[in-house]
Amino acid sequence: MATLTINEQKKVSHIEPEVYGHFSEHLGRCIYGGLFVGETSPIPNVNGMRVDVVNALKELRIPVLRWPGGCFADEYHWQDGIGPREQRKRMVNTHWGGVVEDNAFGTHEYFELCRQLGCKTYINGNVGSGTVREMSEWVEYMTFDGISPMAVLREKNGHKDPWRVNYFGVGNENWGCGGNMNPDYYANLYRHYQTYVRHYNHAAPIKKICCGANVDDYDWTNEVLETTFRHSPEEAHGFMDGLSLHYYVHPTGWKHKGSATEFSNDIWYKTMYKAMYMDTLVTEHGKIMDQYDPDKEIGMIVDEWGGWYEVEPGTNPGFLYQQNTIRDALIAGVTLNIFNQHSDRVKMACLAQVVNVLQAVILTEGPNMIKTPTYHVMHMYRHHQDADLLESRLDGVKTVGTEVDQVPQVSASSSMDQDGNITVTLANLSATCSEPVDVVLKEAGWGRLLEARVVASDDIHDCNTFQDPNKVEERDLEIQMDPQGKGFHVELPAASVAEVRFTRL
Ligand code: AHR
Repeated sequence: MATLTINEQKKVSHIEPEVYGHFSEHLGRCIYGGLFVGETSPIPNVNGMRVDVVNALKELRIPVLRWPGGCFADEYHWQDGIGPREQRKRMVNTHWGGVVEDNAFGTHEYFELCRQLGCKTYINGNVGSGTVREMSEWVEYMTFDGISPMAVLREKNGHKDPWRVNYFGVGNENWGCGGNMNPDYYANLYRHYQTYVRHYNHAAPIKKICCGANVDDYDWTNEVLETTFRHSPEEAHGFMDGLSLHYYVHPTGWKHKGSATEFSNDIWYKTMYKAMYMDTLVTEHGKIMDQYDPDKEIGMIVDEWGGWYEVEPGTNPGFLYQQNTIRDALIAGVTLNIFNQHSDRVKMACLAQVVNVLQAVILTEGPNMIKTPTYHVMHMYRHHQDADLLESRLDGVKTVGTEVDQVPQVSASSSMDQDGNITVTLANLSATCSEPVDVVLKEAGWGRLLEARVVASDDIHDCNTFQDPNKVEERDLEIQMDPQGKGFHVELPAASVAEVRFTRL
């Protein structure tokens, strides 16, 4: 039996709401059809945004939405996406299916979407094929309050007031699709470009995100930080508020990713092993960051993460549309526990991607919408947002898996919210065996159960479809509260993610 011992009197670090963020790219049916259908669509919408999708995301308390990419960001020229729609330039989306992008969704539409969602904004700028001037004018267009060429243009296009840009990414994957750069070259460009990301609103400065590493490219992290901090270690903290990290779980490798819905138990454990690897990545990149930034003022921003498989049969390979099973629920549960545990360094994370692409929380088909198993995990975990991570320790955890892929059976994290309620999230990584878990608090008196929920199913391949949209969803979980209010006992079903919330009597 596993035991999770929680010290409810020791808050370790704050879990920023942004750790539960999302990512939207001009890719496949994420923006078009998924989030935005246009004002004239028969699909219910407000100013072109799908009502069903916006409402579902609001239920997740979506804290931040990254846009417009991804690889798309380094080919995106923002001026093409403003002004009367019929006059907007068309372009080829070279990365994603070679389809024609008509720029119907641009800067104004993005801010309208974030307004409806009530979330923070995270714009990703173009370093790969854009100029410093272009980037600087975009920031002026979005945020300058007064008379300036870009502010006047914004007003002419229908928005007098400036918007708030919370985060600005200076390039995306510049080691790959964003220009195939070497780390020192990119870092010098970063120093240069970020200079012109001006804080026009001094009361609400923009947080600047530097492009970080792909997976375990520790050399990139080291060189980018070394070059950014060289000659100006004091200023460097002003140069950079966050350093990104991208990591996808490709269970059977990048070239042959395997099916989203058909996989063996061996591949299940390969997936779990690769999901757990996020812990190593955050730890090791974090150690390098500590050398330059010991006070942890620069956030690690995991702005692309999730499972990546072959596309659904019969769909456009460039659209990255995949199904989402119990296996994805586990990737989410395990990864979010890791982020919580590293919340002293991980300040934002964006699941890739929000609708219809990769490990999406929502899938749409015409006017219909379904919530995936990952959605339900994000929904249960929403209580960790803006809470404080509690000190905790797991003991007696078995190792499960195959000879090659061994993982701890149980993953957990716990937090206390602003009202003093405790949330414990647990994942059972075994594909076949349930596991008893004792959760023990330091002191008695925590006897009022608020909710106990679980995402599980009879078959690890189960998913929600448009024919059977609620096959996998959150259900009540049976637990035994300790009579003294010193914790609880639970039998975690095989392949499950659970959430238990309680408070003082
Ligand atoms: O999320 C899909 C793609 O994965 C993004 O465009 C890119 O940044 C990453 O390689």
